[in-house]
Amino acid sequence: MPGNHRRGASFREAKPIAVLGLGHVGLPTALGLAELGWQVIGADDMAGKVAQLEAGRAPFYEPKIQDLLVKHLASGRFRPTADVESAIAASKVLFVCVGTPQRHSGAPDFGQIEAVARTIARNLNGYKLIVEKSTAPASTAERIKQTIQRYARQDPPAHSRNGRGIPGGKAPGRHPVARFDVASNPEFLQEGKAVENFFHPDRIVIGVESDEARELLEEIYRPLKCPMVVTDLATAELIKHSANAFLSTKISFINMIADLCEAVGADVENVARGLGLDPRIGPHFLSAGVGFGGYCFPKDLRALIHLAEEHDISCGILREVENVNRGRVEVFLDKLRHALWVVQGKTIGVLGLAFQPLTDDIREAPSLRIIEELLKEGANVRLYDPQAMPNVRKLFPEERERIAYCDSAAAVASGAHAVLLVTEWDEFRKLDWAKLRPQMEVPVVVDGRNLLDPSAMCAAGFEYFSVGRPSRQSAFAMAANRRR
Ligand code: UGA
Repeated sequence: MPGNHRRGASFREAKPIAVLGLGHVGLPTALGLAELGWQVIGADDMAGKVAQLEAGRAPFYEPKIQDLLVKHLASGRFRPTADVESAIAASKVLFVCVGTPQRHSGAPDFGQIEAVARTIARNLNGYKLIVEKSTAPASTAERIKQTIQRYARQDPPAHSRNGRGIPGGKAPGRHPVARFDVASNPEFLQEGKAVENFFHPDRIVIGVESDEARELLEEIYRPLKCPMVVTDLATAELIKHSANAFLSTKISFINMIADLCEAVGADVENVARGLGLDPRIGPHFLSAGVGFGGYCFPKDLRALIHLAEEHDISCGILREVENVNRGRVEVFLDKLRHALWVVQGKTIGVLGLAFQPLTDDIREAPSLRIIEELLKEGANVRLYDPQAMPNVRKLFPEERERIAYCDSAAAVASGAHAVLLVTEWDEFRKLDWAKLRPQMEVPVVVDGRNLLDPSAMCAAGFEYFSVGRPSRQSAFAMAANRRR
């Protein structure tokens, strides 16, 4: 982490930065900026969350966030508040990090962004730079601009009524709008690596319309050494959506190839390695498995499809990415069905519930559909995740026999007819699997993340199935199967 950077003569002395919305994007951003030396007001209208932050407790699990929170509450550089209006009024640069959830149609719900824009309009007491960090389709920044202009004119702020802020303000409804800029500065943080990503970005993208906006953002990010891509607003917005769509495409592509590998007896890990060594392709996001989840990829893919269709642009490629991903859980469960023959009445252990490791986030996590399907088929499930169990418990409360939460991977395996590996937490890789085998009713492991070594699992006596790699059965397991 860069630590405490020396402050130059800048707006830094005069004004704090406001971060509006303290979720998975806003909180790492706010604490990252505090670590870079800025005074940051973190505003969120959820009073409970703010109280928790004030008490020094991060509202979700994300590596290094808890330490940064405690550090910058103590340094005084991070101040959480539920008073969004005052945070806006006090600051010159406002990072908008509120959610853009998905509506039924697949279109993003702009309700939270619009509400923030209206609040900004009411508190426009001097020049402000409004930085759109929430992922939103091209033209959202324009809408933010329009909203601020519209509401600042109709609803003069308290500050102008006090005679401060808006130059030339006169009768209500007639006030010229104080100067402001809107910029787009999409984030590329990955959950589980958000703090790491903040301090070591691959690139910083800023969409701006004025030199003042560009200079302010350059000043804020100066300590971070990486290429900066400066564009117009719509281009910056589209870079973000395209990045997520392209990464999703890589994942669905390799998942389709994984199915083909199984059909022809090839090994997808080696195919991915052979592909990834080509610098035009690159090695990342070529891990086959149960498919992508999380708050971003599924939602952003839908939003991009929606945007393309609105403009009559053919986007079949994106639809297919979505289709392949939707089918992954079934492909995975078919391996279990094939292995067990009958799933009903069996005890199935599920290792990993978060949508990916190092987070407790379960939004769109493949584990949820897997649990749902298993229960539908009459199985009993035993669940374990190092971080996400409290969140899953809210959706699937404990039920005698049917749904049990365990305190370790070993407890999940005990008495299970099969163990499913759904999230690639490191602790599952490091498990002494040979020790677990005798505790299982039937030694079947279905690995949805290709986390384990097929030969080692086979040698340890498992019937081991993974994704796009030849399945292995040990001589022991085959003999046991013959006896059954
Ligand atoms: C993603 C992007 O990677 C970030 O750059 C972006 O900022 C973020 O969305 C966002 O828009 O906010 P995130 O969803 O946190 O980040 O996590 P990823 O690491 O991208 O993984 C997404 C999903 O893809 C996970 O379910 C993961 O298991 C899956 N995945 C990833 C694969 O199935 N295979 C891979 O090779 C890589």
